This record gives sequence, C-alpha cells and structure tokens, in this order.
Amino acid sequence: MCGIFGVVAREERPLGGLLLGAARRLAYRGYDSIGCATLDAAGAIDLRKDPGKIDEVDARHHFEEMRGVRGIAQLRWATFGAPSHVNAQPHLDTDGDLVGAHNGNIVNHIALRDAFLAEGMTVRGTNDGESCVHAVERYVHRGQDMIESIRSAAGDLEGDYAYVIARRDERRLYAVKQGSGLVVGLGDGENYVSSDLPSILPLTQRIVRVRDGEMVVLDADTVELRRLDDGEIVEREPELFTLGMDAAEKSGYPHFMLKEIHEQAKAGGDLLHLLGASPHVDPFLDALRAGRRVYFVGCGTSYHACLIGAALFNRLAGLPAVPVLAPQFRETLAHALTPDDAVVLVSQSGETKDVLNALNASRPSGATILGVLNVLGSTLMHASDHYLPLACGYEISVPATKTFVNQVLLFHVLAERMSGRATTDWSRVPGLIEETLGCLEGPSRALAELLDGHEEMYYLGYGLTLGIALEGALKLKEISYAHCEGLLSSEFKHGPLSAVREDYPVVFVVAPEDASMLVNHVNEVACRGGRTIVVGAPDALLRRTADLCLEIPEATHEISALLAVLPLQLVSYAMSIRRGNDPDFPRNLSKTLTVD
Ligand code: AGP
Repeated sequence: MCGIFGVVAREERPLGGLLLGAARRLAYRGYDSIGCATLDAAGAIDLRKDPGKIDEVDARHHFEEMRGVRGIAQLRWATFGAPSHVNAQPHLDTDGDLVGAHNGNIVNHIALRDAFLAEGMTVRGTNDGESCVHAVERYVHRGQDMIESIRSAAGDLEGDYAYVIARRDERRLYAVKQGSGLVVGLGDGENYVSSDLPSILPLTQRIVRVRDGEMVVLDADTVELRRLDDGEIVEREPELFTLGMDAAEKSGYPHFMLKEIHEQAKAGGDLLHLLGASPHVDPFLDALRAGRRVYFVGCGTSYHACLIGAALFNRLAGLPAVPVLAPQFRETLAHALTPDDAVVLVSQSGETKDVLNALNASRPSGATILGVLNVLGSTLMHASDHYLPLACGYEISVPATKTFVNQVLLFHVLAERMSGRATTDWSRVPGLIEETLGCLEGPSRALAELLDGHEEMYYLGYGLTLGIALEGALKLKEISYAHCEGLLSSEFKHGPLSAVREDYPVVFVVAPEDASMLVNHVNEVACRGGRTIVVGAPDALLRRTADLCLEIPEATHEISALLAVLPLQLVSYAMSIRRGNDPDFPRNLSKTLTVD
C-alpha cells in the first residue's frame, strides 16, 4: 500500500540510481505511479513523477540523471485519486518550498483539501498524500519551524499513515509514523528512511525502528527521534540486521512468485525446526488451551489458513476454534469478547489494516491476543501478547505462497502438540513438498493450458481442502484475472451446479479420507457434461470418474490436503504467464494493505 523512501547525503552526488534501486525494492507495495524528488545543495528541487510502472516512467523521466543531497521516492497504490501525474507523489506545497510523499490513508483529506483551498493554498491533485504536505505548509506559513509544524500537522491529519518531507533551505529530511510502517537506516555519511527493510538493507544493516506517534529528523550524520505529542527526544539504539538481501533477489527465477513457490520446502523445514526448539510455542499453546472461546482471524490467504487451522484443531485436538474474516470479526464478534477468550490474528505482513482493526477492537475486552506473522518487527508482532513467526524470509511477490504453506504447517504443529499425540513424521514434509512440486510442474502447466480457454470456473474442496480450494481460486483470480469461485464441494449442488454445461471446468481438491464421498460430487458434474479435474492423492475410483487427475505423492490426510495447494499455485502462475500478466505485481493489488 504505497512505499516511501528518503535519503540525506553529506555531499551532493548522483541520487537517481539509489532512489530507483530503493523504488524497485518497494515496488511490491504499489505500482500505479512512481515519483522521485531530489534537492541539490542550493535547495533546488528536481521532481519527476508519472503514473505507470517503474520502467515505463523511468523511460520517460530518466531518474538516473537526478542529483542532490536529499532525495525522496514514492511508489503509489491508488486509494484516493486516480493514478495520474498530479496524484503521483512526491507532492509540492503551494510555492515549491516543501516536497513530501506518504504511505497510508488520510481519511479526512477531503475536508482538509477544502480548508487548504480556502486558506489560499494551491492543491494540485485529489490524492490524500498531498494533504500531508499542505498540513505542514499551513504551520510553516504561521511561522513555526519544521519540527513544530510537523507536530501541529499531526493534529490535523486523521488516519493511519507515514510520510517523509523536505524543506528547500534545510539539509534535513523529516519523517512521521502514525500507523504505517517506517524504518530508518544509518549509513556512512548518509542516512535513509523507508516504509520497510528490503529497500534499506542493501544500503545499510544498522536499523532504527520508528514507532507510531514519533517523528524522525535526519541529516547526513545524525538521526533524531521525537515524540509527536510533546516533542521530547526519544533515545533508541539501532539494531543490526544481518539477514542478507540475497533472499530478496530472484536467484535466476523469472519471477519472485516462482522462486517463492520453490522455496517452500526449505521454508517449511525452517519453520518446523524453529517450532521444535522455540520457547515461544508453549506460552502460545497455553493461551489457546486457556481460551474459553478461540478465534482465528485473517484476510485473504491468511484467512484461508485460518479455515484450515480451525479444521485441524477440531480434528486433532478437539478445540472448537472459529475462523473469521478480520473485518467481520470487528463487526460481529469483538463486542462479545471477554478476558477469557483468545484471538489469534494471522497476517503475513503483520500490517494489514483489517487485521489491526480486529486487534484494536479486541483489546478493550482483555482477551489474549496471539499473533502469527512473517514480518518481524511488524505492528502485529509488537501488539500481540504472544506471537509466533512464520520463518519464511522475505515474500516479495504479491500472491502469497510460502507464507500460506507455513501458516497451515504452524497450525498443524500446534494442533498436534495440543492433542498430545505425535502422529506426523515432520521430517518427511520438506521432501514431500519438493517431490510434489517436481512431479506436478508439467501437469500443472497442462492444466493451466486447459483452463486458459475459460473465463469462469469453480474450485471445490471439502473439510481440510475447503481452505485449499478457496486459496487456489484466490490465486487464480489474483494473477490470471479469470473468475474462479472457491466453494464447499457439498454446497455445489445447492445452486451453483446450474452453471455446469458442456466442458465447463470444475476442479475438485480431495484429501485421501474424503475421496469416496467426493466421487459423488465429481459424478454430479461429469454426468452433466462438465470437465472434471481432481487434485489429490491417487485414488482408483476418482481416476476412473474424473477427466483429469493431478496426483500428489502419498501422505497423511492432513499433509496431503496441504500439498494440494502446490499444483494450484503452479497452475495460477502458468496461467498468468500464458496471459502475459506479471504474476509478481498483479493489477490493482498490493502486498501490504494498510487501508480499510
Ligand atoms: C494473497 O495472495 C493476497 N496477496 C492477499 O489475500 C493477502 O493474503 C491478504 O491481503 C492478507 O495479507 P496479510 O497476510 O499480510 O495480512
């Protein structure tokens, strides 16, 4: 949901390459427009921006040419204001004294815009990020210095956001964190600020995390944190991040998505190893055991993992966990929470606004908040009473893959631990993931070719595979742009079956113990001329009934269900490529959704 980056250097130097590199590493957060601004030693501003992806805009504006002592880059994922030149960021204030860019949402920006216009300011676009710049301008015009102006502006800006801003005649950058991510990197003779770590880590590994309600004042040699409310300086030691950026490179794969799909065996192994040794697992499990009511809450892919998690806890541990979509949780359940309840919030990014809203709605009840997240240092991590990491490393591609597999594995390990019965041979799991990917890459491409001729279809699952079918359908919609509905297999006959006609594709995701019942569902489609495809463990009856079977290696019922997501990921990837789409950055989407 937008990405911002800023740099302050000691000497004037070429900054375009650095800004462009950081922007590329932020591209997963938004790609409706890109803009860069540099300020030279005399304070002259060079601002270049436009709608479009980085390479298209760069071809027009030649960012590499830009020089200065300060620079700002912004990648936009449009919420307020269509992607256009005026709405692209960074924005200038009325007379070009200030330049700034934001991430997040200023929810009162329409009222602010009217007020700024009434006060005689020039507002050029309809993007809410421009409000950050004018809100500071308002107080600069009233004679306040930049620190005071930014603190005063915080009282005017409503929403969850972060922004970076520079004034022409100063050698500093200022940044604010109020609900969206912001980190500072300490370099050698230059300092950086950004929405997230991947854009900074190739430049420096010395990181200072900014907290909500704080502002940062950066020059080339110093970084000062201050609280917005009282202006007091905050002391915080930098952390050293040793995780290399290799993980954020494509390593020879054409897309991050394919790389991340193939990293799943290792990521799964890493997680299983971590859970086997982590002292954080027992307190997490104790909180679940103590929960009078237990909710698993997430959005999109993370919600699908919650569905499977709830089925695993029911099946293995007899724990009735309730899976809920995060926005619905706030609306339908949060007010009834008590201190005896446990809310498990599941989020790859740990920054999804809908999930944080559920968290904030849960807090007043005193219920225990448990986080499952991939991004360490995220808002969810800090806000949880106990959290468990997914141990996936960076997931850059917008479609979640390895984080989903690890979310399900994490639930599975916890449910089995709670049951007190050790029935899964975890050491086999990474090998099974690798084997499944290896033997189904070709058949998945063939299935993508078959489905590519259709603009609508169904993925059906049952029990543990309902979440897998929904996830497969989401992945297909997300990057192929075909419509694919995921549904409980037994529900199909209650209405949607009427969609079936000659050759209409229906994919059944089948876990071993459900095969004998799912044969009926396959038959119901087959006898009406539909094209039936089964993804699941080998089964003689299913093989005879369905038109096509993608058979996954023999495994337990639970592991087999999880493995079934792998060919579905590959099918989506292959179909996206066939259609000429960019699977890493699908249209209209963003990796981290920090808006309502
Ligand atoms: C998955 O491919 C999507 N990109 C999306 O559904 C995602 O899972 C959802 O936005 C939730 O994100 P989170 O896990 O970071 O909270």
